[in-house]
Amino acid sequence: MASRLQQIQKHISDPAIMSGEFWQDVPLAPPDSIFKLTAAYNTDSYPKKVNLGVGAYRDNDGKPWVLPVVKKATEKLLSDPLYNHEYLPITGLPEFTSAAAKLILGPDSSAIADGRVASAQTISGTGACHLAALFLIKFYGFNGPKHVFLSNPTWVNHHALFKNVGITPVEYPYYDPHTFGLDLQGFKTALENAPPRSVILMHPCAHNPTGVDPTREQWKELAEVIIAKHHYAFFDCAYQGFASGDLDNDAWAVRYFVEKKVPMLVCQSFAKNAGLYGERVGALHIISPGQDTAHRVKSQLSVLQRSEISTPPMHGAKLMALILNDKELFEEWKRDIKTMAHRIISMREELYRLLTEGFETPGSWDHITRQIGMFSFTGLNAAQSQAMNDKAHVYMTTNGRISMAGLNTSNVRYVAESVDKAVRGTL
Ligand SMILES: Cc1ncc(COP(=O)(O)O)c(C=O)c1O
Repeated sequence: MASRLQQIQKHISDPAIMSGEFWQDVPLAPPDSIFKLTAAYNTDSYPKKVNLGVGAYRDNDGKPWVLPVVKKATEKLLSDPLYNHEYLPITGLPEFTSAAAKLILGPDSSAIADGRVASAQTISGTGACHLAALFLIKFYGFNGPKHVFLSNPTWVNHHALFKNVGITPVEYPYYDPHTFGLDLQGFKTALENAPPRSVILMHPCAHNPTGVDPTREQWKELAEVIIAKHHYAFFDCAYQGFASGDLDNDAWAVRYFVEKKVPMLVCQSFAKNAGLYGERVGALHIISPGQDTAHRVKSQLSVLQRSEISTPPMHGAKLMALILNDKELFEEWKRDIKTMAHRIISMREELYRLLTEGFETPGSWDHITRQIGMFSFTGLNAAQSQAMNDKAHVYMTTNGRISMAGLNTSNVRYVAESVDKAVRGTL
């Protein structure tokens, strides 16, 4: 009989094992569509190429923008002799999470004053959504199927993110392709028909990918149905300040729902509004009916966080804590946000002007200026969008979405001309 050692030797010399055939049943996954677009853009040598795929702010020279306030805060942080690289607490830097809660819920929020908010620092907005999804699957007490209602369309990652924790996405109507605006009636009907206590994910501002937001009156109508049906509001806020240039204005829907005592949580990202994409700065805030509940919720967020990431990253949270808690830096940040939002708004206006007065492109283009935030749903169909990629070297997703942040005074005319040709079928 072979000795144990011989058995092991035979085992490790088995070519099937040594060649990694262990994983022979793992299928090849397709690359992420947005990252694939950027890779194609990067290798394209065409001089007029434009990247309208990725949702990241670019300045008027098409370059990433480090916000001046972030530069200032970084210098301040790094020159502090006490700066170190110790672990943060499991639920994050308290000076950051409390200031972040105030930013989204408002400085006078009754929920904060009553101690009803349980906050945890997360790996940016994605991590906030993930932690929230984990918390829901464990504690929400779904009676019946574990569903989350997502707008159709929504940020593509929402689908995978919920599926990964065992929550099944169900879509509600949101975008009306005929008006390029909100399908309010479809949305309300879906809320009415959803089982009571359904979890409804909403984007409080700058809806990704459509750029279509409900008006305040429409939010009120939606809140009414949500309250009547005892639904749970899951707000994913990745663009506060980025939509209108005003942090309070963009938080209106969230604050209205809190005021109306809708059971809810908020996921918050500082990737876009502070340009801290790679630093992964975000927070999850769960609003509870009372202080004692909030305390228990926070204890469970801590347990979940510990097993997921142990503790969150420090640098970006320290930067944001400095900016949010220092009056002067905070005012400067607000000015930087306005710079970004207003540049994007001016690009919307210029693209609209070129498509209408400039090229007299067939169709209606009002939605370009009506939509808000980082993205616009142009209305280009899949074939036209593909032609923009292949023929004009203007990189965009095939659902017709463009990132307005990729437009600047040097390329907007070329993009408009390409859209015009795509619409006319002459690209
Ligand atoms: C709607 C929405 N939620 C969440 C995120 C997550 O962003 P991040 O994880 O970079 O903060 C994004 C990013 O594009 C988004 O558009």
